[in-house]
Amino acid sequence: MSISRINGFADLFDSDAALFDFMESTCRTIFSRYGFKEVRVPIMEYTELFARGIGTETDVVQKEMYTFPDAHGKLQSLRPEATAGVMRAYINASLHARESVSKLFTYGPMFRCERPQKGRMRQFHQIDCELIGTPAPAADAEVVSLLVNYMDALGLENLSLHLNTLGCPNCRPKYRQALIDHLTRYESSLCEDCQRRLHTNPLRVLDCKRDHDQEALQTAPVFADYICDDCRAHYETVTGLLTDSGISYVQDHCLVRGLDYYCRTTFELRSDAIGAQTAVAGGGRYDGLIRNLGGPDVPGIGFACGMERLALLMGEREAARKDFYVVCLDDACVAQGFRITRDLRLAGLKGEMGYTAAGMKSSMRQAGKSGARYTLILGSDEMARQVAAVKDMDQGSQQDIELDQLVTVLSHKD
Ligand code: HAM
Repeated sequence: MSISRINGFADLFDSDAALFDFMESTCRTIFSRYGFKEVRVPIMEYTELFARGIGTETDVVQKEMYTFPDAHGKLQSLRPEATAGVMRAYINASLHARESVSKLFTYGPMFRCERPQKGRMRQFHQIDCELIGTPAPAADAEVVSLLVNYMDALGLENLSLHLNTLGCPNCRPKYRQALIDHLTRYESSLCEDCQRRLHTNPLRVLDCKRDHDQEALQTAPVFADYICDDCRAHYETVTGLLTDSGISYVQDHCLVRGLDYYCRTTFELRSDAIGAQTAVAGGGRYDGLIRNLGGPDVPGIGFACGMERLALLMGEREAARKDFYVVCLDDACVAQGFRITRDLRLAGLKGEMGYTAAGMKSSMRQAGKSGARYTLILGSDEMARQVAAVKDMDQGSQQDIELDQLVTVLSHKD
């Protein structure tokens, strides 16, 4: 009996792997324009890092981590996200002593033991970006505009940017208490998780996806009424800079995010084209995180994109498409087909050939399966006339092209 994949873990073949490659290379190009440098961190860390960083009351830490003891019994976990590990690396390398602002990005697999569904995997991949060292609102705006710029470069449209502020340790406790007072009146109508969150992390009740008593949420106090002057001024500068840059957003009072380290600006990019899991990227400011992890009191802001969700949006991209497929109808044509394939590849075109001669019907079936734009047909008749019959697989049209003109003609086709 063969061994199956673990549920929620995926193999990436061919066009999917090409999409991931495209996301990573585009990330390197775009992020470096903003001064971000790559960092590679381990996929496993001591569990304590995530508990202290992400928060012991979060779903991620309470229910979703893959955790096991090392040989000495110390707990370690597969990373459920990248931020905590990047901050640990930042602290261990004392980067703050070398530069006032550090701009880091990383990408790779993350692990969360959630119930798998479309767009929600147990092993998934993130592109993660962290700007550490400044509390300035311009940094928040820069990070959001980098995210928007990156989506544009991937050719993704129709995403909505949701923005909110979560305030700071001065103003949030007052709002938290007002929310607890309000929600307590509706406690019995909340789901089991939210009844627990009501006392541990009441803000999370606001973005619970379950069907709650609508009155409880609609009449809930709004943070804007509790925010302190500093946080309000910060948020107004961020939103002003975004508006000036032509970046539109939705003010979303319910956007609270699922990780505890956030303060002030939080944001999410959403799409309604990929099913129930609508968030393709999320992030925010985390000013107390590095201090919480035993490092210096340095603020930061960042985001992560879910690569599987981006891949769902991108579908099969043209970039992954082959330019040509060579079919040989006759054994005597194989050597010529081999030469043509090599010449076209040397000229920068992407394509393949059928290794053995076959009849027209099965050759065309192979060509169709390859997904190439043009099929080059070589038979004894074509050989005698020193041409290839070139079929445009999109238009269905066909024309003879002289063999010594193939590279020039195909290189200039759209
Ligand atoms: P997050 O919102 O937990 O934030 O995850 C970011 C993105 O990762 C989500 O918007 C989603 O696209 C993707 N994602 C999360 N879980 C899954 C899953 N099970 N399957 C597929 N995709 C998933 C963070 O992780 C923060 N560390 C982001 C950040 C960086 N904040 C500041 N810096």
